[in-house]
Amino acid sequence: MKIGFIGTGVISDAIVRGLMKSDTEMSFLLSRRSESLSERLANEFSNVEVVDDNQAIIDASDVVVLAVRPQVAEAVLAGLTIPPEKQVISLIATLTHDTLRSWFGTEVSICRAIPLPFVADQIGITAIYPDQAAAKTLFTLLGTVVAATSQVEFDRYGIASATMGLYFETVSTLSEWIIKEGVPESHSQLYFSALLHGLNQTALKQNETSFRDQVAAHSTPGGLNEQAVSVFKQQGGPEALVCALESIKARILANSAPNPKEPK
Ligand SMILES: NC(=O)c1ccc[n+]([C@@H]2O[C@H](COP(=O)([O-])OP(=O)(O)OC[C@H]3O[C@@H](n4cnc5c(N)ncnc54)[C@H](OP(=O)(O)O)[C@@H]3O)[C@@H](O)[C@H]2O)c1
Repeated sequence: MKIGFIGTGVISDAIVRGLMKSDTEMSFLLSRRSESLSERLANEFSNVEVVDDNQAIIDASDVVVLAVRPQVAEAVLAGLTIPPEKQVISLIATLTHDTLRSWFGTEVSICRAIPLPFVADQIGITAIYPDQAAAKTLFTLLGTVVAATSQVEFDRYGIASATMGLYFETVSTLSEWIIKEGVPESHSQLYFSALLHGLNQTALKQNETSFRDQVAAHSTPGGLNEQAVSVFKQQGGPEALVCALESIKARILANSAPNPKEPK
């Protein structure tokens, strides 16, 4: 399978590196920009080729991955011709299927996807919509895939994927506080990294247990963990998190017109 990337930035680099770790035979055509990334991949891997012309990438690929930023997408993509037999995967945040199709002028199969940087280590979680064979095959090689059954569901994964900084903001706040209390920075970093790792393993092992039940499981009645949760709630912690999600939702939905063909 030949996979072409229009846009060779951070996420394309992560995808190519993750796919290189799989046993599946494939080759890659990358647009030259950003040259430092595309050239490095081509130097490292014999099945990566850098191509100057975006249309040439489309013409020679079975699967075309669109990975430019939304701000430049129209300038880069409008006017390119994508034959209907190609499978297109768009990673471009907020751009709808209808907008993309209107630029290409064909009824090509377009799947939107939200891979996260850990795809490089094949431990990604990638939301796709709609369910498309090419996207499912590729992203399953890179971790877990969740196929949304509606635009509404897909957009919620877009919102959820914008919370990564928030987890680190939380742990930074906790870490900075214990450092202020006299813990050496390196110890705090070690401590919270291991704590996060343990919680992550617990969440994965007990993925049938709801997060709400896990709060209870980690909060002995009358104990210190319960106290921490209780003070966090009293101080409006959950409301602040919901506010953050609502603001991301407003931004995503402002750009994401509903698909008239989709059932309500
Ligand atoms: N990063 C993530 O974790 C992530 C996750 C899911 C989805 N996404 C989405 O994926 C897209 C790319 O994100 P990114 O983080 O990889 O951004 P990025 O690092 O800025 O990469 C964008 C790439 O597009 C290239 N480009 C600009 N104009 C081009 C043109 N005319 N022809 C070919 N390539 C061109 C840029 O090259 P120059 O540097 O030379 O301008 C750059 O290499 C975005 O739409 C983003 O919403 C990102």
